[in-house]
Amino acid sequence: MKAIRSDSEISAIAESCEIAALVLQYLVDSTSEGITTYDIDQLGKEKIAEYGAKSACYNYRHGANIFPAYTCISVNEEIVHGIGRIDRTVQNGDIISLDVCVNYNGYIGDNARTIAIGSVDPKIENLLEDTQNALLKGIERVRPGNRVGDISNAIESFIQPKGYGIVRDFVGHGVGKTMHELPQIPNFGKKGTGPLLKPGMALAIEPMINLGSPNIRFLEDGWTAVTADKQPSAHFEHTVLVTDGDPKILTKVKN
Ligand code: MF3
Ligand code: CO
Repeated sequence: MKAIRSDSEISAIAESCEIAALVLQYLVDSTSEGITTYDIDQLGKEKIAEYGAKSACYNYRHGANIFPAYTCISVNEEIVHGIGRIDRTVQNGDIISLDVCVNYNGYIGDNARTIAIGSVDPKIENLLEDTQNALLKGIERVRPGNRVGDISNAIESFIQPKGYGIVRDFVGHGVGKTMHELPQIPNFGKKGTGPLLKPGMALAIEPMINLGSPNIRFLEDGWTAVTADKQPSAHFEHTVLVTDGDPKILTKVKN
C-alpha cells in the first residue's frame, strides 16, 4: 500500500487540511435559522476559492453520477453527501452536517462536523456529542504499530453500548492526491486487524452514527444517503497524520 507520504507531500496535505478546516469553521459560523442549504454551499464555494483551493466534491464522479455541489450539506435524517437546495431553509431544531473536502496544490484535506440549530431534542444533542467523542476515541488509536482495526474498534466499542446505529455503508479513508485512498477505515472492527499504521499516513476518520437503525437508503438525486427509519444521523470527520508519536489532527483550526 502506497499510503506513506513523503515530507513534501505531508506539508501539502497539511496546507490543504488547514484550508478545509478554515472553510468548515466559516460554514459553521454562517449557518443559522433562515439560511438555505444552497446559500451555505455557495458560501463554501466562495471561501474555498478565496483560499486558492478547489472543491474536491464538485464534479466528483461515482459511476454515472456527478456531484453537483461544492460541499456536502446533510440535514437531520440525511447522513452524508447531501446537496444544498434553495427550497431547504435551516430551521430551529435541525441538525446540519457540513462536510468540506478541498484540493489545494494537488492534495486533499477533508473534514466534517454536525451542528445543532437552536434548541434540539436532548437525545439528539447527545448523539452529536457522542459521535464527536467517538471520532476522538478513534484518533487516540492513530499511532505507529497500531492497525486500522484498532481505530475501528475504538469507535465501535464506544458507540455500541449507547445503542446507536453505526453506518456500515461508508468508511473513512486515506487522503493524498485523491479523496478516497487506501486504507479504508470502517467505523466497526476488531482490534489488531487490518493494515498496519506507519508514520506518514494521512487518514480521514469519519464516524457516521444514527440515532436509530444503521440502515440507509439513497434519495432520488443518487447521492444523499438518509437513514432508512428517518431518524437523525451525525457525522464528524478529521484528517489525521500518523507520526512517530502522538496523532496529529491536520484539520484542527489553529487559534
Ligand atoms: N468527505 C466526503 C467523503 O469522504 C466528501 C464526499 S464529496 C462527494 O465521502 F462528492 F462524494 F459527495
Ligand atoms: Co471523508
